[in-house]
Amino acid sequence: MSTSPVIETDHLSKHFRDNVAVADLSLQVERGEIFGFLGPNGAGKTTSMKMLLGLITPTAGNGNVLGAPLGDREAKRRVGFLPEHFRFHEWLTAEEFLRLHADLYRMEGERTTRRIHELLELVELKAHAHRKLRTFSKGMLQRIGLAQALLSDPEVVFLDEPTSGLDPMGRRLVRDITRDLRTKGTTVFLNSHFLSEVEVTCDRVAFIKEGIIVRIGSLDSLMNGELQVVIRVRNLKPESHQGLTRWCRNLQIEGEQLTFQLDSEDQLPSITRYLIEQGGDVYTVQPKIIALEDLFLEIIGENDSLEPRDEAISLKS
Ligand SMILES: Nc1ncnc2c1ncn2[C@@H]1O[C@H](COP(=O)(O)OP(=O)(O)OP(=O)(O)O)[C@@H](O)[C@H]1O
Ligand SMILES: [Mg+2]
Repeated sequence: MSTSPVIETDHLSKHFRDNVAVADLSLQVERGEIFGFLGPNGAGKTTSMKMLLGLITPTAGNGNVLGAPLGDREAKRRVGFLPEHFRFHEWLTAEEFLRLHADLYRMEGERTTRRIHELLELVELKAHAHRKLRTFSKGMLQRIGLAQALLSDPEVVFLDEPTSGLDPMGRRLVRDITRDLRTKGTTVFLNSHFLSEVEVTCDRVAFIKEGIIVRIGSLDSLMNGELQVVIRVRNLKPESHQGLTRWCRNLQIEGEQLTFQLDSEDQLPSITRYLIEQGGDVYTVQPKIIALEDLFLEIIGENDSLEPRDEAISLKS
């Protein structure tokens, strides 16, 4: 199997008259990576994805997907796509809709029928296979769209806001499907507003603002391993606080709650031991990785609108 990047772009840009949607996009996505593309509304995420899919022509620059130039027909067979605004054939049933897309992919035979049923099961729509899409809820449409994106067993899947319109269970389903794709070695390029979703599923993320990548890296490196810790301790003498500064940065004390930052969790046992030696009764020690949303705000700037943190974070397993 080739080890060259699955997606590679070189100074791609797209201008709509004098509006610069994508200014300068150079990135590489390796095989098997779950790559998150994050940015505020209008940052250029969908435009970038459409250029990668060959759906719109770049104003300048170039790129390739699966080793072929953008838009190459043969490469498209090996690519799946869930658009942001899907135009569904509402008069078809769920099964007929997948069959139509299978035909568009020139998929044939018994294997295709099996695949359609497998996908209806995967997106939990088997019971609705014979219902017309017209009668589907927004979340059901999003799920059948996702099944469509996976139909050809693609090597790379582009998902543009796959969880929009989904309830927490639907979001969890998408997260689980994305993880399964990773296990199979499928590459996923994911545009998302749900930062907590990116946080739990992506290996690497790029932050895009006004058509420019402002930061790119693995989640670990972006979060910089920085750890925030909250400790609830009673009966600690105020003079004992000073001793904590040998490990802790930005120590804040509110009643019995101590909040501080650490470079590594390796320091936590020494801290709790110290607190106990000082006569403190330790009730809770809660390490908290600095959330992606904080990083997003820091990188993109506090003035940009964001969707609220969703509950997916509490589903984190
Ligand atoms: N067909 C088009 N004609 C003119 N301008 C366009 C077109 N498509 C996108 N744009 C503009 O390009 C910029 C980037 O839009 P894009 O849809 O790529 O952003 P996005 O990051 O996907 O945003 P969102 O999070 O809202 O989906 C915006 O200023 C948008 O108005
Ligand atoms: Mg978009």
